Amino acid sequence: MAKLVITGGRKLSGEVKVQGSKNSSLPILAATILCEDESVLYNCPDLKDVDATVKILRYLGCKASRHDTTLVVDTSTMTRSDIPHDLMREMRSSIIFLGAITARCGKAKMSLPGGCELGPRPIDLHLSALRQMGIEINEQHGELECVAVDGIKPSKIALSFPSVGATENIMLTAVKASGTTIITNAAKEPEIVDLADYLNACGAKISGAGESTIIIEGVDKLHGCNHSIIADRIVAATLMSAAAATSSKITLDGVVYSHLSMITPIFEQAGCEITQKMGKLTLDAPYRLRSPKLIRTMPYPGFPTDAQAPVMAMTCKTNGLTVFVENIFESRYKHVDELNRLGANIKVEGKVALVDGVRHLSGASVRALDLRGAAALVVAALSANGHTQVCGIKYLERGYDEFEVVLQSLGADIKKI
Ligand code: UD1
Repeated sequence: MAKLVITGGRKLSGEVKVQGSKNSSLPILAATILCEDESVLYNCPDLKDVDATVKILRYLGCKASRHDTTLVVDTSTMTRSDIPHDLMREMRSSIIFLGAITARCGKAKMSLPGGCELGPRPIDLHLSALRQMGIEINEQHGELECVAVDGIKPSKIALSFPSVGATENIMLTAVKASGTTIITNAAKEPEIVDLADYLNACGAKISGAGESTIIIEGVDKLHGCNHSIIADRIVAATLMSAAAATSSKITLDGVVYSHLSMITPIFEQAGCEITQKMGKLTLDAPYRLRSPKLIRTMPYPGFPTDAQAPVMAMTCKTNGLTVFVENIFESRYKHVDELNRLGANIKVEGKVALVDGVRHLSGASVRALDLRGAAALVVAALSANGHTQVCGIKYLERGYDEFEVVLQSLGADIKKI
């Protein structure tokens, strides 16, 4: 099994381009099936989760080919409306296909995604919204079967929580409704805006994406388009964490500064200097970081739950205490035991984690148990004395495109073996 071997303590320097966003690519790939046409997606990262999504598209009868970071998808040849269990299991977020397939075919069948490494991940908000749009849903033997008996009805959907996946599923269904759908308390994440931008470029009529009320006027037909995926703000936060933890200065190219509005202040509180110029962000870290005190994960524009683990790795060597409060997912502290194995001093009580900064981390063998936890271990290993082996890098590869190559280009001593 592949693992990463990292010799920590080296300073990073230089400039890298931040990859395209995983969490934008997945719903946009699901959205391509609504177009019944060819779409060209630029800046689409080469990731395990993107591969899993492409496998589903191919199973459905669509064509997809990759040229570097450009993915060409032709969904005019789609023949099926079901997703088999083994493809659903590869990635929890394949539930995003539910709305898109039903909107295109009038029916869809797939297995329930179930829990995952972050704890229970219910889909009740997705299902109740689709039912509100007139879709009949049967849940039996771990399978979901959807039928839009009388087409898709426009609706007013008030979400009890601004779920990213539910907002995306509603948008993907409502673009083909026979009227106007209004979502209130919608998720405001940049990936929602990217999905709306893609769909609008295909002929959809969506307004308000990025705000809490989204209005979707149904249309009969969509066409393909060329679309460039936004930069991955979580990968940017991970690279910033790596630079801060190693007292380094690096420049990130291609980032959207406003997407990092709740992330950059944390690094500034830690004593890093951040400058922004023409789509480039430079982070210059001090010799010893200060503790950022309190980090609470919240729906966007709050601090993202996906950045909690890598930023926690950055706080391990700060001068003082940092309190993390994880408000989005139940089991999102699995990296803590492994960070402690590297010499960190972290205690967890329910949704609170207390990081008491130490002077040094020291290399050890550690195991990643989820995607962002894997990124946290890499960040910590880069700042630890000596050698660290990180196992479980299949998780890292779900969301980071050749991360070891990116870090090598910044001068890190890291290799995959
Ligand atoms: C997406 C992201 C994930 C990120 C998360 C929160 C993708 C592929 N994944 O996941 O990386 O961590 O947003 O920013 O884009 N909930 C319910 N019922 C539902 C749906 C969600 O109770 O029907 C709860 C979840 O249990 C969780 C919270 O809402 O506590 C957030 O989930 P949600 O925003 O839906 O996250 P995902 O879309 O799964």
